[in-house]
Amino acid sequence: MELVSIDKEMCRKDGICIAACPLGCLTADAEGFPVETANTGCIGCGQCVAICPHGALMHNSLPMQDFLPAQRDRADFASTAILMKTRRSVRTFKNQPIPRETLAELLDVARFAPTAKNTMQISFLAIADPDRTKALGEAIAQWMLPRPGMERYVDLHAKGQDFVLRGAPHLVLALADADSDWGLTDAAIAISYLELAAAAHGLGACWGGIVQRALTGNPELAALAGVPKDKAVRGALMLGAPKYRYALVPPRTPAATIWR
Ligand SMILES: Cc1cc2nc3c(=O)[nH]c(=O)nc-3n(C[C@H](O)[C@H](O)[C@H](O)COP(=O)(O)O)c2cc1C
Repeated sequence: MELVSIDKEMCRKDGICIAACPLGCLTADAEGFPVETANTGCIGCGQCVAICPHGALMHNSLPMQDFLPAQRDRADFASTAILMKTRRSVRTFKNQPIPRETLAELLDVARFAPTAKNTMQISFLAIADPDRTKALGEAIAQWMLPRPGMERYVDLHAKGQDFVLRGAPHLVLALADADSDWGLTDAAIAISYLELAAAAHGLGACWGGIVQRALTGNPELAALAGVPKDKAVRGALMLGAPKYRYALVPPRTPAATIWR
C-alpha cells in the first residue's frame, strides 16, 4: 500500500509536507505533487497530514478521524507560562479521591507527549483505588526504612507521615520495556505532561522518585503494584486534590545559559 494519498485537486504543490517529514519519506514528482521516496522509514508521526493547510494529504496508516483540530490560539504564552511556573510538587492532599474519568482525562493528555522516533512506547499503570495506593506506599516504606541513609525518615514514618507517597490517593507509573532505548526520557516527558495537565485541572501532583527507585529495585514491590513482568517503571507521579493553595512561586536560579 502507498504511504500517502494525495488529492490533486486540493494540493497546491507548496512542498510543506515534504519539508515537515523528519525522515525524507516524501519528495516532489515531475509535476510537483508529493510522492513517497525509496525511504521506507516512516515513523507515523502524522506531520505531513497535520501541517497541510489544504487537507490534501492522507496517510494510509493514520485514519483522518484520529486527527484533532489544532486550536493553538487557545493556549497563549502568558497563561501557559503561568501554569508552568505555578505548578508545584504537592505533598498535602485532601482525603478525597479523584474521579476515574478525571484521571483518564489527564492520561489522555499525557499520551500526546513526544517520544523519540515516535515509538509511543510509554504505557501507564494508574492506581485509582486509594486503599491500594496506601498499601503500596506502606510496603515500600517497610522495605526502605531499614536501608542506610533512611534514618531521617524513620522518625517521620513513626509519626504517621507518608514519606513515600505523601498521602496522595493515586499513583501513576510510566512503564517502558526494560531494555528500551530512550525509555527514561520518554517517561519523564510523559510524567511532565501529566503533571502539567493535573495542575491545569486544579489537582495536585508530585514526582515519585522514591517509588520509582523502590519498584525498580525490588521485583516483589513491582509485582505488588501490578507492574507487568516485561515492563520497567521509568517514571512515577502521585496525584490527588491539593489540601492547600500556594500563595507564591518560590525563587529559582536564573536560566544558566551559554549564548553564542
Ligand atoms: C525526578 C524527580 C523525582 C522526585 N522525587 C520525589 C519524591 O520521591 N518525593 C517527593 O516528595 N518529591 C520528589 N520530587 C519533587 C522535587 O523535590 C521537587 O520538584 C523540587 O523540590 C522542586 O519543587 P517544585 O516541584 O515545587 O518546583 C521529585 C522531582 C523529580 C523531578
